Amino acid sequence: MNILVVGSGGREHAIVWKLAQSPKVEKIYCAPGNAGIAQIAECVPISVMEIEKLAQFAEEQKIDLTFVGPEDPLLGGIVDVFEERGLTVFGPKKNAALIEGSKTFAKDLMKKYNIPTAKYESFDTYEEALTYLRKEGAPIVVKADGLAAGKGVTVALTLEEAEEALRQIMKDEVFGSAGARVVIEEFLQGEEMTLLSFVDGTTVKPMVPSQDHKPVYDEDKGPNTGGMGTYSPVPHMPQSLVEQIIQNIVNPTAEAMVKEGSPFKGILYTGLIITKDGPKVIEYNARFGDPETQVVLPRLDTDLVDILIAGATGELEKLDVQWKKEAAVCVIMASGGYPGPYEKGKEITGLDQVGEEAIVFHAGTELKDGKVVTNGGRVLAVTSIGSTVQEARDKAYQAVQKISFEGAHYRSDIAQKALRA
Ligand code: AMP
Ligand code: GLY
Repeated sequence: MNILVVGSGGREHAIVWKLAQSPKVEKIYCAPGNAGIAQIAECVPISVMEIEKLAQFAEEQKIDLTFVGPEDPLLGGIVDVFEERGLTVFGPKKNAALIEGSKTFAKDLMKKYNIPTAKYESFDTYEEALTYLRKEGAPIVVKADGLAAGKGVTVALTLEEAEEALRQIMKDEVFGSAGARVVIEEFLQGEEMTLLSFVDGTTVKPMVPSQDHKPVYDEDKGPNTGGMGTYSPVPHMPQSLVEQIIQNIVNPTAEAMVKEGSPFKGILYTGLIITKDGPKVIEYNARFGDPETQVVLPRLDTDLVDILIAGATGELEKLDVQWKKEAAVCVIMASGGYPGPYEKGKEITGLDQVGEEAIVFHAGTELKDGKVVTNGGRVLAVTSIGSTVQEARDKAYQAVQKISFEGAHYRSDIAQKALRA
């Protein structure tokens, strides 16, 4: 089988790595890929938004299955275009990807179908939003409506912070048109958890839970990032809680999308906060999480190709998806300055010193004059597997110590919540 993976991050490296283990796979292409992906797949210099070019490539190379990592091409209608051309692809169409692309769409869906989430209002004008903010007071959460690479959200502990965030989104337009509308949300207290699911429209096959670390610094300090590290399983969250999330949140979401006439096919990401009143949704994504994928896929026992094909053809119900008992921990090494501005092109050394203890998924790297250099905010996703979270964590940090590049930073407390609990 020939497979095309679209994307260039640590998530896509993990997806390609997993697909490469399937005996059914002959050749994997990745567009555009990165220096790490290039070691196991053929990278093709087509960017993720060149949808027509990607479709043409898939036709020419007789690609049997395409899988899309990031949200932008999904919202740009890549699945619609591929399906119109009779190409097999597993992912949501444009109208279903809106569950991620518009927070207002997601919030309205949850309200209509009684899916537990934070109380909210959305606004198209600065003045109305400001009045509401002042009425509600802090702590409060201010979110740009559209896509902002995980950075459009401010959890404001004071009213000043909230007003500043609103000003940046609606007046300074720092997220461009993504901030033409804002969602202002009740602050939820509790631990976060991510549950990813394979969904073929009607059948939902949940994956194993994981926990991300969004703020850039230890102890959850500093601004939010796309995610600084993850682990799975989340041992202090009981299976009964996961069952409750599937019954009360994930299944009803898939059913709601069917009823709305835009069935969701693809990877449904539910980001949750476990409050004292039970789990509540803070966000949906229409794709695999990054870096959640890096800890979830190494734990998958079933052939990923079988799952993606079953998903694409609406036959997930027949498939038994199995998981391994081992734990996985992923530590992100980021560029100096991230999530703010950062420089690229820093040489990465020590990669060849990492042995069996870890898999180094490349997130933002590039090959330049034979050297692997930094090419993004999140640079490497160093991932280890162990019989316990503790063991996986120790191995991941051992590997991190061996790698360096100018300005590199990482959180030193990934998975600590699991060990403390
Ligand atoms: P989002 O992009 O909506 O997932 O938000 C990014 C991060 O902001 C989340 O991972 C949470 O840490 C935090 N966050 C979002 N919404 C809320 C909320 N209603 N209450 C508390 N924290 C939140
Ligand atoms: N790690 C969070 C996300 O992928 O959205």
